[in-house]
Amino acid sequence: MTDLFAARAQMAFSLGFHIIFAVVGVAMPLLMVIAEHLYRRSGDPEYLELAKRWSKGAAIMFAVGAVSGTVLSFELGLLWPTFMAYAGPIIGMPFSLEGFAFFFEAIFLGIYLYGWERVGPRAHLAAGVLVLLSGSASALFVVCANGWMNTPAGYSMVGGELVSVDLWAAMWNPAALVEGLHMLTASFAAVGFAVAGIHAAMLLRGARRSFHSRALAIALSVGGVFAFLSPLTGDLAAQQVAELQPLKLAAMEGLWEDEAGAPLLIGGLPDEEAEVTRYGIELPYALSLLATHDPHAEIRGIKSFPAEERPPIAVTHIAFQIMVACGTAMMLLAGFAGIQALRRRPIAAQPRLLRALVLASPLGVIAIEAGWTVTEVGRQPWIIYGVMRTAEAVTPMPGLIVPFTGFMVLYGVLGIAVVVLLRRQVFAAEPGPLVPPEAAGEAAGKAAGATAGEAAAVRGTDRGTDRGTDQGTARGAADGVLRQPSSEVDHGA
Ligand code: HEM
Repeated sequence: MTDLFAARAQMAFSLGFHIIFAVVGVAMPLLMVIAEHLYRRSGDPEYLELAKRWSKGAAIMFAVGAVSGTVLSFELGLLWPTFMAYAGPIIGMPFSLEGFAFFFEAIFLGIYLYGWERVGPRAHLAAGVLVLLSGSASALFVVCANGWMNTPAGYSMVGGELVSVDLWAAMWNPAALVEGLHMLTASFAAVGFAVAGIHAAMLLRGARRSFHSRALAIALSVGGVFAFLSPLTGDLAAQQVAELQPLKLAAMEGLWEDEAGAPLLIGGLPDEEAEVTRYGIELPYALSLLATHDPHAEIRGIKSFPAEERPPIAVTHIAFQIMVACGTAMMLLAGFAGIQALRRRPIAAQPRLLRALVLASPLGVIAIEAGWTVTEVGRQPWIIYGVMRTAEAVTPMPGLIVPFTGFMVLYGVLGIAVVVLLRRQVFAAEPGPLVPPEAAGEAAGKAAGATAGEAAAVRGTDRGTDRGTDQGTARGAADGVLRQPSSEVDHGA
């Protein structure tokens, strides 16, 4: 293993590890805030319990994200000193702003976690909203810096000397906003699906139905909406790539020859020696149409770029296919679940759909890892596109295999610790196996249908009082069937 490869592998693992915690930090606050808002509106203690349990899970992920993020900032300086010396004065601003956003996030998360009895209800909800905003801002700022590596802007160099910097133009480089939007929508989609999958699994185990149905409804609504938005922002990202990083687009698509009316390839395996992509299914004109909105536009192929400037084609192409495949599957599942909800068929009472949601729960995270692979590997051999090669940026220090191995061990231990803690968190206060969904379909239908009515009954509105009381009674009966006496938990805990 060369030192350059060891440095790249260490960076790839560190980013791949950190990103999982970062996206949870971005998206989990939305779920917590929705649950708390529903509790404040309805008075239903299960929403309160949900907000508390989700925020505890988010806090675990936030802590590991903070540790792995700090490690990353050291790695940037230690492994890529030439890059930092060149880029630091230009993209220092988004990095510093990211730091501020992170501090805000930590402060308001502290208030959210420990302020339930210490601040008023409005202030508490506002703290949750501020965690959400600062987490999203933090992700956006980091992606602005990454966007600059893809489309460097806002500075001029004369004879290797930096003569002027426009910090604003550098931060809002051409890739920043589209990449940032795609990252944010991807985070909400991935976390929504992951959380929905956990609660679907709990429902399949027969755990507390009313609690997990509510959790599933919130998580799937968030995941579902953003599963539709991710391909839209992905389309914007693809247009930006087509215009400013044409070789990355050709690599993503495994397109070797220049082609007017270029087809979109589904699947396929690039053979980099023979310079062909085999076994793919071609959709005529679709690539030209998606990349430029003109079905006859010419798209440059990989062969029109010098061999020494090409990224690893197979990795970029396969990662792109994985991302799009996961995104498509999530969208289809979200669409199906949405239709079920519109037809008032409770998802909690459909074991097959619940199983599909469990299977789909890692798809968003897989898509995110694949998306970052496209962005980073697709930019190679450049660390700053067209300006500095990755090989020029690496530290001259020898023996980089040693820190690489050390970090792998660190991430392994951290990963195991997180899984153990989260398992405890998920199964905490669970009453144990009850009635599986197959046996409880009928009762569950009434239970889920009653939720809205019950909420209205709690509010005591004219609109909801009669219907709500009837359905609330039905739900009470259904829950009575489903729960064992020992399953009662402290809702206010
Ligand atoms: C289904 C249609 C999708 C399309 C057309 C698409 C397109 C793209 C493109 C072109 C890039 C490269 C951007 C660049 O290098 O500048 C990208 C990156 C990325 N994609 Fe996707 N994507 C899709 C779905 C998804 C989904 C479902 C997720 C995750 C849930 C996702 C997560 C990411 C991430 C994390 C990146 C790297 C960071 C960024 O560029 O924002 N993508 N995507």
